[in-house]
Amino acid sequence: MKKLLLFFVALIVYHSFSSAQNKQSQMPIYKNAKASIENRVKDLLSRMTIQEKAGQLNQLAGLIATGPAANDPGEKAKMTELREGKVGSFLNVIGAKETKAVQKIAVEESRLGIPVLFGFDVIHGFKTIFPIPLAEACSWDLHQAETNAAIAAKEAAAAGIHWTFAPMCDITNDPRWGRIMEGVGEDPYYGGLLSAARVKGFQGNLNDAEHILACVKHYAVYGAVEAGREYNEVDVSRVMLWNKYLPTYKAAVEAGAATVMNSFNVFEGVPTSANKYLVTDILKKKWGFKGFLVSDWNSFGEMITHGYATDKKDVAMKAINAGSMMDMQTEAMVKYIPELVKEGKVSMQTVDDAVGKILYYKFKLGLFDDPYKFCNEEREAKVTFTKANREEALKAAHSSIVLLKNANNTLPVSNNTKIALVGYYANSPEDLFDFWVGKGTSNDAVTLYDGFKNKFGNSLIAYTKGYNADGSTNDNLINEAVNATANADVVFVNVGLTGKLAGEDRSVANPVIADGEVQLLKALQKTGKPIVALVTAGRPLVLTQINNLVSSIVYCWILGTETGNAVADVVTGLYNPSGKTVVSFPYAVGQIPVYYNHFNTGRPTATDDAGNWFSRYRDIPNDPLYPFGFGLSYTTYQYSNLTLSSSSIKKTDKLQVNVTVANTGKVDGEEVVQLYIRDIAASIIRPVKELKAFKKIALKAGESKELNFILTGKDLSFYDADGNSKLEAGNFKIFVGGNSKDVLEKDFNVQ
Ligand code: BGC
Repeated sequence: MKKLLLFFVALIVYHSFSSAQNKQSQMPIYKNAKASIENRVKDLLSRMTIQEKAGQLNQLAGLIATGPAANDPGEKAKMTELREGKVGSFLNVIGAKETKAVQKIAVEESRLGIPVLFGFDVIHGFKTIFPIPLAEACSWDLHQAETNAAIAAKEAAAAGIHWTFAPMCDITNDPRWGRIMEGVGEDPYYGGLLSAARVKGFQGNLNDAEHILACVKHYAVYGAVEAGREYNEVDVSRVMLWNKYLPTYKAAVEAGAATVMNSFNVFEGVPTSANKYLVTDILKKKWGFKGFLVSDWNSFGEMITHGYATDKKDVAMKAINAGSMMDMQTEAMVKYIPELVKEGKVSMQTVDDAVGKILYYKFKLGLFDDPYKFCNEEREAKVTFTKANREEALKAAHSSIVLLKNANNTLPVSNNTKIALVGYYANSPEDLFDFWVGKGTSNDAVTLYDGFKNKFGNSLIAYTKGYNADGSTNDNLINEAVNATANADVVFVNVGLTGKLAGEDRSVANPVIADGEVQLLKALQKTGKPIVALVTAGRPLVLTQINNLVSSIVYCWILGTETGNAVADVVTGLYNPSGKTVVSFPYAVGQIPVYYNHFNTGRPTATDDAGNWFSRYRDIPNDPLYPFGFGLSYTTYQYSNLTLSSSSIKKTDKLQVNVTVANTGKVDGEEVVQLYIRDIAASIIRPVKELKAFKKIALKAGESKELNFILTGKDLSFYDADGNSKLEAGNFKIFVGGNSKDVLEKDFNVQ
């Protein structure tokens, strides 16, 4: 009896063991966490219908899967599509709870249980808002930029977001364009370093639930819109494409960015979403980009409006055959790819390549093994808008501020100086933030008024609006301001543009200080008191009209959550400003575009005909009001002893450049030491200056440091029209200084 019992027990154990084994061997490879991602992708592709594949190429905006709104017919229709495997990604579904509910439908109710990707525009912070990217660029602090992106990623990831549509790598020279705020400024070299730092910050190693996929946008040349008008024409040559516009995207791709976004514009007559030269030849073949592309919002559909495609079927065919992949909001791929494959107009291999890359990142993020990895309500509450995150936002804001003028050392002032603050925007949270603030709310942010109140307490003796929300003014507002400032020793006036005018579809024809604000400053100037202009704007405004009305100009840009605290720290000298502008400040609107890395014309100087017939304006100078790389400090720096390791090098040699920088003032500070080159004559003309290296250094009062920079052949090269990098023999110049204009220089040649 006992033996029989033992026999049965053994039989049961054997059966359960072998059925577990069977189950394992029956488990599809794609569900097996131990299999390689490549094998999992292959296996999954082999199980998918063509309609399911097309579904992975479909990205839709928003889906409410919780609460009463989930019953709306529109939401229900999207849920049905999701169940049918017709959606690969959503944008703008945000929050741990909401993303979890949507993910549950994808994973538990669709045939193959493929998780969806949640994308969102996390541009300069998620809930803790950092300075706008253009301002952050003025810090010349790559480490801080990476940290800012990492914090934004961590907050977003806890709210279920897998993917940000950032960084924007579009070089632009046009402050009329509202999206200048999102970019890197006017320099391709620095812009490339910054874009790479941002990618690294967002993505980390992509192996935890704290980092998210980055998206290099808008590929390509979106920043060259004619006349700065949003979504306008773009027409640049291949030489400009390669040398000026592509390096930032390339640097971000090389930093490992998982995704790239097509831009809205056309290049050489072909919308970029269908531009084989840009997408396949350059991005995929030349740069070896292995990730996936997403269109911009209906940029596939806009091919019809551009006059390049006849209907959505044509759109889907042209986009995918050029190498583009995921379709944001046009629903052309999901509808027409199956038909196009059947008709032989699109190959299955092309579809598999695109879908395989999207699936790859879903595996890489671990979503097949734990689809709810990112949506964690507990973590969301814990990591969002923390004290530590705000401290970083304050540091970032400090270093983004650019001091443009400081006559008679008006700044800094001590915090018991009697001051008045004037300016509608200074106390208006709703004008504080721009368009791209994720889930940040300006009511959680520190306005200039709040920050000054914190810092000056009762020494802030008056606050008054001075102008209206639209920048206009009247006698009452002006008189009120003049009276309110009567007992102040220094008057701070916040002028500029509302944050609402920064971002997409925020082009303005006149990026200037509004007439009303100028009038106000004129009236205040008459009081004879020192006036400090605190300029807030998402773009470099033309400051010529106010430049001589004020003693100091603090360019604050749009600084995010800690705005008021950061500016108060700067004006009181707790933080010595170190920001340097990454865009030139135009002298007049008619001078736009004005940028430091321009070419020489054939007639750059007044050498002929008694000073006539050269390239200039008759009414204004050629130079901008403030040049690229410019920014003051409360101390002064002196540059000396610029030396080169050799005055003649071979193409394979390295050139060492030495320079001494001294802090000649009375306070400690940080200086951004900039190195530029000029290639004097080449087979393609080269800019009058090109930034090639920089160092941000700390110098104690009275301290001096010898710095060295190493340049290689790569730094002296340029691209020809076919994208080949060329290093040519000839004469060069080296310039080193604290901005692009005031520099020391030396000559050398390459043999
Ligand atoms: C913008 C993109 C953005 C997308 C999704 C578009 O209108 O051009 O930059 O990522 O919308 O919000």
